Amino acid sequence: MYSAIQYIKHFFLSNHKGHNVHSPFVYNFVKNVLETRGEFYCFSEIENVRETLLYNHKSIIINDLGAKSKVDKSPKRTVSDIAKTSLKPKKQAQLLFRIVNHFQPKTVIELGTSLGISTLYISKAVKTSQIITIEGDKSIFEIAENLFKTLNIRNIKNINANFDNELEKIVNNLEKIDLVYFDGNHTKEATLKYFESILPKISENTVLIFDDIYWSKGMTEAWLEIKMNEKVKVTIDTFYFGIVLFRTTQPKQNFKLYTR
Ligand SMILES: C[S@@+](CC[C@H](N)C(=O)[O-])C[C@H]1O[C@@H](n2cnc3c(N)ncnc32)[C@H](O)[C@@H]1O
Repeated sequence: MYSAIQYIKHFFLSNHKGHNVHSPFVYNFVKNVLETRGEFYCFSEIENVRETLLYNHKSIIINDLGAKSKVDKSPKRTVSDIAKTSLKPKKQAQLLFRIVNHFQPKTVIELGTSLGISTLYISKAVKTSQIITIEGDKSIFEIAENLFKTLNIRNIKNINANFDNELEKIVNNLEKIDLVYFDGNHTKEATLKYFESILPKISENTVLIFDDIYWSKGMTEAWLEIKMNEKVKVTIDTFYFGIVLFRTTQPKQNFKLYTR
């Protein structure tokens, strides 16, 4: 209910088609990312993988380390259920692909691999970049790991760990971070903590993408705090994703943009 009301508000309050967006950087983003509907060859390949997951009725016991699913809170789940409820739907996953493709980051961190669908979209958008993806649940991690091996994907480093224990170590070992996709443990406290952990390695061109900023009141509060952080220069709220940029050449500005 909370998300539905926020969607209606976003529809009426957001900028449609980039009218009156005076920043050339953001206007290009609207035209090249939000309004482009190109079909890339990898889309059908990844959607076929999703299809096989949706038909996989094997049961597994999961240990969800994050904010629990709103739909199914039991530890016994089928792969098919997880594919139905936890993964980015096709349209949003393809928007994520276009965002990553637009910015061309070299080093990417994903928090929340799940079965690996969003990871596949990211890895295909930047084939020569390194993608570090973290998943806390062992059974889910193993399914994603097998998938990446079967598809012979070489630019994904899949880690089975709790973000709370591993994120800081990963950040310390990297020289800089170009893009982070936050898609796990949707609580206000965790989201703000993970955001703070990344800050030591941000650069002028770092892009942060927060998923589900309207999933709960707490997530929206976290998003508002992130927008107010003094290091943050430009934010783009597409409802599905909250995008954060640190470009010092831009004045501090928050954009609310509509995408179908
Ligand atoms: C929404 S799903 C990710 C979906 C995936 N990005 C996609 O769209 O294909 C979130 C995942 O984060 C994992 N997770 C949540 N909290 C975690 C934590 N503290 N440490 C590690 N993994 C966590 C969950 O097990 C779950 O599989």
